[in-house]
Parts: sequence; C-alpha cells; structure tokens
Amino acid sequence: MILVTGAAGYIGSHFVRYYLKQNPDSDLVAVDNLSLGNKQSLDTSCSRLHFYNAAIGDRAAVGKVFANHKIDAVVHFAANAYVGESQTKPFKYFENNVSETLRFLQSMQEAQVNKIVFSSTCATYGNPQYVPIDEKHPQKPINTYGSTKLMIEEALRALALSLQIRYVCLRYFNAAGADPNPPEGQEIGESHEPESHLIPLAISASLNLDKTQKRLKVFGDDYETADGTCVRDYIHVNDLAEAHCLALKLLSSESFVGDVDESKQLGLALNLGTAHGASVKEVIAAVEEVTGSAVPFDLVARRPGDPPALVADFSKAKAILGWQPKFDLKQTVESAYKWELKRRY
Ligand SMILES: NC(=O)c1ccc[n+]([C@@H]2O[C@H](COP(=O)([O-])OP(=O)(O)OC[C@H]3O[C@@H](n4cnc5c(N)ncnc54)[C@H](O)[C@@H]3O)[C@@H](O)[C@H]2O)c1
Repeated sequence: MILVTGAAGYIGSHFVRYYLKQNPDSDLVAVDNLSLGNKQSLDTSCSRLHFYNAAIGDRAAVGKVFANHKIDAVVHFAANAYVGESQTKPFKYFENNVSETLRFLQSMQEAQVNKIVFSSTCATYGNPQYVPIDEKHPQKPINTYGSTKLMIEEALRALALSLQIRYVCLRYFNAAGADPNPPEGQEIGESHEPESHLIPLAISASLNLDKTQKRLKVFGDDYETADGTCVRDYIHVNDLAEAHCLALKLLSSESFVGDVDESKQLGLALNLGTAHGASVKEVIAAVEEVTGSAVPFDLVARRPGDPPALVADFSKAKAILGWQPKFDLKQTVESAYKWELKRRY
C-alpha cells in the first residue's frame, strides 16, 4: 500500500484519483492537515481510501498511521508552494517544507519504509542558463521555495547513502488543468487561495467569475521571447499523476538504477514538462479560444525574479519511465475551463 502526503491538494487529489483507478485492487493512505487542500477533493466514501487529518511532521500521529497500515512507498506532495510568500515568510517555508519533511522522513525510517517519490520543482534550477532545461542544469534557486525543495533533494541524496532510501525526485514545471472526465458531482481542479497561476486567473478574468470585472495582470512584455511575454511549460495534472505511478513502479523494481551522481545511490531526478513553452499571450489566446470570450488584461511591470523562459527537457523521464505528456495546451485549458464551470470548492 502507498501513503500520499498532501493528498487533498491540487496535484495530490488528482494523483489519488488516478492511482485508485489504475490500481483497482490497491488501497491508499492519504495524509493531509487541510491547511491548504480541500477534503472535498477526495472521495472519502471510497473504502479503499484511508484519510488522516494530520501534519506530516507530527511524529505521534504519523507514527500511528504507519503502525495502522503496511506501507511500501510514499508519494510526498505536502508543502507550501507560493514563490512570493516564500520571500516574505521564509521561515514558514523552512519549517513546513524542510523541518516537517525531515521529521516525516524520520517517521518513515522508523516504520522501515524506504521508497519515496518527492514533488520537486523547476524552481530549484533558478535562472536558466539554457533552455530547454535538462536535469544536469545547475541547481541555483533564486527564492526560498526553490531552496527548500533543493534542501529535501539533498537530504534524500544523503539518506540514500546512509540509510539506503530509494527515491525519485520529480521536478515539475507548471502544473495545470483538471480531471477531464470526472464523475458528475465529483469534479476536482485547481483551487488555490490566493490563486497565482496563469490559466485559472485568465479563465476567471475571461468569464468574470468573481463578478468584480477583475482584469488579468501581465507582468512585462519586454522579455527576450518571441512576443515579449514570459514563456512557461504547462504540464497537465493527469500527466503528472501518470508519471508518479510509473515512478512508484520503478522504485519497486529490481532493475532500479540511480544516477544522481557516481556514488551508485538509488536515487533519480526527472523533469516533468512538455518541452513546449507557451508565452503569456499564447495562453491568453488559448483561453479566449476555449471560453469564447476575451481575456481583459493590463500590462504591468515585470515581477522581480521571473525568468524569461522555463521549458523542460523531459527526455530523461521518457527514457527511464517510458513517460510522455498526452495533453497539449488547448486540452489542458479545456479541462481547466470545465472545472471552473462546475467548481465545487
Ligand atoms: N502546482 C505547481 O505548479 C507545482 C509545480 C512544481 C512543484 N509543485 C509541488 O507539488 C506539490 C503539490 O502542489 P499543489 O499545487 O498540489 O499544492 P497544494 O497547496 O494544492 O497542495 C498541498 C497540500 O499539502 C497539504 N499540506 C501542506 N503542508 C502540510 C503538512 N505540514 N502536513 C500535512 N499536509 C500539508 C495542504 O493542506 C495541501 O492539501 C508541492 O510540493 C509543490 O511544491 C507544484
């Protein structure tokens, strides 16, 4: 059985649904303190889903969870993930993303669980020295959020050498979209408060969803990109879910070979993106095509720390996991739009 942290969050809830569908004979343990996520995103009536409202760093509570179930591997999504907030409240990020995770890793070790898939991020690379970014690109984060994720990558590397932990760090680019075919009344999708991601903000502005005529802010159109706006790589949340399932299989297989460095540790880091960059203006055009309404926007100054382009080279994930993304930008926007029309939380 697997244990999923941050299971009630945006990516976690999509993974949980995807995993339960792909593995009809398996149960799953979900741990989330609901500090950000939403319990409605999990089908708690499903008898194969065992939900615990607990903080991952709560040694007593997590110890009981491990005692109650025979866990083979962990998928670790729980974290705070706002770049801007990580700059104004860095200690919140060190505490939640690093200290809590270290305590959780200790609980894992005590329960003799040694396999983990970790949610890392392209923010660990910092300002790109070249694009598309492969896994050999130097990791020099330029914000506290990215630093906290890199610290855990380093901790896993050390634990692989000392305690034989087996791990896969999945470095996502921009997660986007929603379950494209949810059962009626069980729609799940992106719901961050405050929302900082472009696609939901553009859809909301296009449809005037919050009834305040809010206009989208476009931060800078003088970047060295084709149309001057920032370019990002939007990866569908179900494509991410599939990659996690494949990473779990790999961790359990005898043929798993790590390659983070020459030390022969059993650890891997893989980029997850589409290799296609879309500019802010291209995303706006895709949203307008899907919603049929214009996206009202204002051009404002650049945000400090926004690199011009972040695009993934995912060839390593393709070679090792046999994974490649299935959703293009339009399909991703369509699924996000469907969610916005039926948003439950
Ligand atoms: N969304 C993206 O584009 C993106 C990109 C790269 C990496 N990531 C990483 O993916 C993971 C999931 O991101 P998301 O967008 O789904 O975020 P989210 O905020 O929707 O989900 C995070 C979940 O973790 C839970 N949580 C936080 N701290 C916890 C704790 N101490 N104990 C228990 N539960 C806790 C929250 O309640 C929430 O349900 C994060 O680790 C994030 O850093 C996200």
